[in-house]
Amino acid sequence: MGEKEKLEDYLKRSVLFQDLSEADIRKISLLFEIIDLPMGDVLFYEKDRSSDMYIVLEGLVRASLFDEQGNELVLAELGPGEFIGEMSMIDELPRSATVIADEPTKLAMLSRKAFMKVVRENPEIAVNVIKGLVSRLRRTDDMVEALAFRNVEGRIVKFLIGMGREKGSFDNGRLKVRKMVHKDLASRVGASREAVTKALKALIFKGVIEERGNFWLLSPDAEEELDP
Ligand code: CMP
Repeated sequence: MGEKEKLEDYLKRSVLFQDLSEADIRKISLLFEIIDLPMGDVLFYEKDRSSDMYIVLEGLVRASLFDEQGNELVLAELGPGEFIGEMSMIDELPRSATVIADEPTKLAMLSRKAFMKVVRENPEIAVNVIKGLVSRLRRTDDMVEALAFRNVEGRIVKFLIGMGREKGSFDNGRLKVRKMVHKDLASRVGASREAVTKALKALIFKGVIEERGNFWLLSPDAEEELDP
């Protein structure tokens, strides 16, 4: 498949453009610029002034917030078919988060002007943007709930259960997830690395988590076994 056909194929499967006809996809694909982002590179920083929007074609990016000490809170990880940079594109305010490639990533970039033209001609795209935003708001609500009402142990268990359901497997009824370095886990649960190390020790002591090689196994009642 050539680059052009590949882009059309990706767009056809993306959250925003999935409902469009082949002819419309072909027309729209001409407006995109392809960008390769090496692993670890920053696409843009929080507070940057730019308003292009991107579709992830291959790879994975994360949208994160950083404090002055460099501590990170990962808001979302976005993979193939998902869009990124839509917030500044819509309201023209500075970028709400820093976006970094977690893997070698290929993106399709669309300027604000081109996007507005495309939406005017194909209003169903606006509905898909709204659906995507609503689903992100639900996930963010979940994260806010965990940060407000759960302690670090509870947040770790909730995060690992979510990750296990998405990309883990089962071992004798127990969710099995690949171990993460404590710093990365800390940036997913809004805690310091030290707090994560301490909480993991406690979870292992209580039997909620078992370490096996490169994996963590979660007890079937992991969520119920914890205080809030
Ligand atoms: P923008 O503000 O233009 O740049 C940063 C991007 O990160 C933002 O658009 C969204 O695409 C993404 N982003 C910011 N906050 C969240 C969130 N809570 N959930 C998912 N994606 C987000």
